[in-house]
Amino acid sequence: MSQSLRAVYLGTFDPLTNGHFDIIERGAFLFEHLVIGIGQNSKKTPFFSLDERLEMLKQACSLLENVSITTFNGLAVEFARSCSATVMLRGLRTEADYVYEMQMAMMNRVLEEKIETVFIPTRQDLSHISSSLVKDVAQLGGDVSCLVPKNVYQRLRQKLTDSL
Ligand code: COA
Repeated sequence: MSQSLRAVYLGTFDPLTNGHFDIIERGAFLFEHLVIGIGQNSKKTPFFSLDERLEMLKQACSLLENVSITTFNGLAVEFARSCSATVMLRGLRTEADYVYEMQMAMMNRVLEEKIETVFIPTRQDLSHISSSLVKDVAQLGGDVSCLVPKNVYQRLRQKLTDSL
């Protein structure tokens, strides 16, 4: 029997890109409710603070009525459980993503078998985007306006100007 589904979409979002946003919009269409969890990847030192990322995501998603945004610490499956979500949504860009994502999905299944990972293939024209690339290009003076939502672009420019 089918049931209404709540999903979580997790990431560092440093910063949110058009690639992430595409997955969020498609996830919001597929699921009853989508909770975006901004986490901390222990291998990364973020450029934007947690509060800045939260604010940028809230602004970018303000028209998506069934999407909520929060921060989280700890295990992804525990966060999903705390949101009463049964789906972990992930975007798949490339073959390299596939290998990494399968490993994460299998580990998450070992940790919590009731939570399913659902993959959405990224739009081909967005599959080259990553948050690090966006930051690298912007820091070197390149135009990233077609890679991120408008509010993120403005914030990125402001932050780079402030750091001069
Ligand atoms: N479009 C554009 N870029 C995308 C994308 C998409 N659809 N999907 C992923 N990316 C980018 C991200 O921006 C990120 O770029 P970066 O490396 O340049 O910063 C990169 O691809 C990797 O994304 P992701 O795998 O989502 O890593 P992340 O650092 O953004 O988030 C967490 C990682 C928070 C989801 C992960 O560490 C986690 O689940 N932590 C919880 C701890 C846990 O449960 N660990 C055990 C898991 S088995």
